[in-house]
Amino acid sequence: MITDPYLVPITKSINWSAMSHISALVAGTRGSGKSFLAFSLLVSLSTLPCKTDSLLGTSQLPTQIFAIDLKNADMARLSSLLPDGRVANNKKDAIRVVDSFLNAMNKRMEWINDNAPFGATAKSLQMPLYYLVIDEYSATSAVFNDALTKEDKAMKYHWFSSIHQIMMLGRQLGFGVIIITQQASDVNSGLSSALKEEFGMKVHMGQANAESYRLTFGNEIQIPIESLNTGEGLIWLEGTTDTGYVLPFAAPFINTRDFWSILKKAFARQEDVKYLTSCLNGNY
Ligand SMILES: Nc1ncnc2c1ncn2[C@@H]1O[C@H](COP(=O)(O)OP(=O)(O)O)[C@@H](O)[C@H]1O
Ligand SMILES: [Mg+2]
Repeated sequence: MITDPYLVPITKSINWSAMSHISALVAGTRGSGKSFLAFSLLVSLSTLPCKTDSLLGTSQLPTQIFAIDLKNADMARLSSLLPDGRVANNKKDAIRVVDSFLNAMNKRMEWINDNAPFGATAKSLQMPLYYLVIDEYSATSAVFNDALTKEDKAMKYHWFSSIHQIMMLGRQLGFGVIIITQQASDVNSGLSSALKEEFGMKVHMGQANAESYRLTFGNEIQIPIESLNTGEGLIWLEGTTDTGYVLPFAAPFINTRDFWSILKKAFARQEDVKYLTSCLNGNY
């Protein structure tokens, strides 16, 4: 039996199928462990398929990573590990990054249409994923919403419509987003309820009140009574936890002393052209 090569381990018993259930929402207050969780997701994603005994996988399907971090914090430091043009820490570069992500997405669509049989998808062809991670998404949206000049208004429109396009059209092509935010509120953040339904994984890190959980998970979800610390959270996975309850979990522990070297190894296969059209399943 062939197991899913796109499985990202969250804990020993919880796995996220990043291709089948594309795009993730990570919410939680400041300091709850959102960015650290995202970093461990990036290591697993960029070295798929995963191995059971280590954070680094076998890297036959290296997810291509793009990152936006307008607060210029941990995520922005990835610019020294990723190819040029993949990481943004200001508004103009954020537009450039999102444009090149969309451009890659459209190129893959054309390539599949021209080369693969009818009905083929990135999943059936076993193509590497592409993920855009946006840290502090609400703060980012606020920066774009603060638009007085004509140019700023154009960028605002461009930003929100691009995020919308990626989330609505990326699924078949293996293009997803990881949105990290303190509050998954709808108001002005561009995270409409319709868009929130597109997430294949939703996580809320740390302790929160009922309203914050409702914003992250929606109204239908039952919240178990748990006391959660930094690096711990509740998780909802499309297809797994649909039946009502979200699951408590602890994020993989990150030892900051050697994590940078792990990231460096994880990003050994970040390339702009090669992985756009590579297929592990050559029998199409
Ligand atoms: N999985 C983890 N492993 C080790 N330390 C963690 C983990 N998650 C959080 N921490 C600790 O908590 C701090 C805040 O986590 P961070 O991910 O930056 O929070 P957030 O992004 O939600 O503001 C980190 O600097 C680290 O010291
Ligand atoms: Mg953070």
